[in-house]
Amino acid sequence: MEGKTVYSAIQPSGDLTIGNYVGSIRNWLTLQEEYDCYFAMANMHAITVRQDPAELRRRTLSLAALYIACGIDPEKCALYVQSQVPQHAELMWVLNTVTYVGEMERMTQFKDKSRKHADNINMGLMDYPVLMAADILLFKADLVPVGQDQTQHVEIARDIAIRFNNRFGETFTVPKALIMKQGAKIASLQDPAKKMSKSDENPNASVFLTDDRDTIIRKFKRAVTDSDDRIVVSEDKPGISNLLAIYASFTGKTTEECEKEFEGRGYGEFKLAVGETVADKLAPVQEEQKRILSDKTYLHGVLASGAERAFKVARKTISKVYRKVGFYQGE
Ligand code: TYM
Repeated sequence: MEGKTVYSAIQPSGDLTIGNYVGSIRNWLTLQEEYDCYFAMANMHAITVRQDPAELRRRTLSLAALYIACGIDPEKCALYVQSQVPQHAELMWVLNTVTYVGEMERMTQFKDKSRKHADNINMGLMDYPVLMAADILLFKADLVPVGQDQTQHVEIARDIAIRFNNRFGETFTVPKALIMKQGAKIASLQDPAKKMSKSDENPNASVFLTDDRDTIIRKFKRAVTDSDDRIVVSEDKPGISNLLAIYASFTGKTTEECEKEFEGRGYGEFKLAVGETVADKLAPVQEEQKRILSDKTYLHGVLASGAERAFKVARKTISKVYRKVGFYQGE
């Protein structure tokens, strides 16, 4: 433990994709060995788009089981559900008052989601980055390991922290996004210009962590590739570059090593190898997730102690913030 704090979270808003795995959870595994880590199920973020309540509850537990199945150790990290720590919402309110509407309107994800959910552009959707800033700042996180698509949100969390500190005196640690070179932006298998997403309408675009072996292999076989047959990373070969990034992430090899491995081999063979590698890696994770999910007593125990750990820290931060802004807190 070097005394640094790490914070990250995932929304239980749909089945996770290999993009979520490669861009986030996989990187948490090494961080938990060194740092004080908090990993949450961001269910408060999830309701900014309509969710089925029973499904949300089920997905929250399923996500917790997945974290553990992937190797996140609940003894080392605080693993908890965001809504169980009320200080997230409390801090968000205060931070709202140092955040400008214009800044929120400019957020890429807000613009994308507003387009996608034009019938439900609610206040929560716009306030999403402030809630995320509250998550991070509540724990005085130094590092926030996320995929590329979340960098703008971490940037705004930095701005908010700096602004609050300037106005009220040193309170928050200014966090930094931790983006891995490899796999920070896994693209859709059907349109490599788009990121792979939980909510893509095309089921062949995303590989889900819950997909069975045949489905995984079939999706990779159908993946969009490029015209010639060289297996190299290149800007004009986004499909193949994406598959190489996935293969490298799942094997722990560098992309250069992967290029060498497939030199002179065809796309068909390459796509099959990627599919099989991903399927082989996910099979034991899926088994373990099922096993953990069947032991509800254990799972509820983990989440209760995670929430308790998070609550202790969060309570201290909020009390300090309330003091700084001049809120009456009793005698
Ligand atoms: P979410 O749930 O959309 O995604 C979870 C994590 O997965 C990463 N990710 C990807 N990485 C690589 N390639 C992809 N195609 C890909 N798709 C998703 C995301 O960057 C993210 O790291 N707002 C966050 C959740 C959140 C959070 C936080 C994160 C809430 N509070 C505090 C960090 C700190 C989100 O919606 O992630």
